[in-house]
Amino acid sequence: DWTPESFIDEQIASIREKVGNDKVLCGLSGGVDSTVVATLIHKAIGDQLQCVFVDNGLLRKNEFQSVMELYTRDLNLPVRGVDASSEFLSELKGISDPEEKRKVIGRVFIEIFDKEIGSDADFKYLAQGTLYPDVIESVSFKGPSATIKSHHNVGGLPEKMKLELIEPVRELFKDEVREVGRTLGIPEHFIGRHPFPGPGMGIRVLGEPTKERLDLLREADFIFIEELKKQGLYNEVWQALAVLLPVQSVGVMGDERTYEFTVALRAVTSVDGMTADWAHLPYEFLAHVSNRMINEIKGINRVVYDISSKPPATIEWE
Ligand code: XMP
Repeated sequence: DWTPESFIDEQIASIREKVGNDKVLCGLSGGVDSTVVATLIHKAIGDQLQCVFVDNGLLRKNEFQSVMELYTRDLNLPVRGVDASSEFLSELKGISDPEEKRKVIGRVFIEIFDKEIGSDADFKYLAQGTLYPDVIESVSFKGPSATIKSHHNVGGLPEKMKLELIEPVRELFKDEVREVGRTLGIPEHFIGRHPFPGPGMGIRVLGEPTKERLDLLREADFIFIEELKKQGLYNEVWQALAVLLPVQSVGVMGDERTYEFTVALRAVTSVDGMTADWAHLPYEFLAHVSNRMINEIKGINRVVYDISSKPPATIEWE
């Protein structure tokens, strides 16, 4: 029978055997999966592991600072923080197609990573927090020819990096990864975090993700998540997110006409992210969140709630 303890023991043994005295590089995303992987590998081989956490400018509000603190202070991980937000934003200029955005973000990520370890060429392995559903969905339900979304953390390492992959949670589902993380001593407030896609807010600002629009979305997302936590609803849903639509509409504020953007709120219940139902959040709650967003965020004058399930919709909008 599967238990987190036995999984951890087996993985530690097999990582030690595979890696020997070589060095492992791990990209941290700020999410549960990569954090569990890094903690597990750190436990197996100590400081033969080096982690890199890239600020791609597509993270949540205050995310980079607060997660760096967790990595270094609570988990003692050997991690280097890299601010690459301007590189990502300039490469995303003029790009609005969802798959193209995913590809650009994936490519720039590899470039930054490559540059970061350039002088440190003795890494032999790259560790990733790939999950079972990531593997399945990137190859698609129908077969390799019809990719639904190219998950930027699956596959696709350039030849020249010559790193072998280590993916210890590749056969696990999210709830199992969380169990492993708890057993490894990662704090509960972190373990319970909702999934967050590798391309981040880049695929939640529909259309071109400019700094200005990303900042608007960060404020909206912050209010939504803060209110879910305040009302005890955060742990009731699998994932909650805000999407900035590239559409302006007319509103009225005092005596003034406004012509501003719309935020779509999305909250779903799910077991593994492969299928999902829209969460039946209380009307009073939605009303409160909507009021706060429209009153507090200059640039937003309309909030809508997404009532589509997966399939046929997906959880993210892009
Ligand atoms: P969709 O939108 O395909 O998402 O229903 C299913 C789950 O996967 C997350 N997701 C990603 N996670 N890299 C990731 O690590 C990605 O590129 C990516 N795209 C979607 C999404 O947030 C949801 O939890």
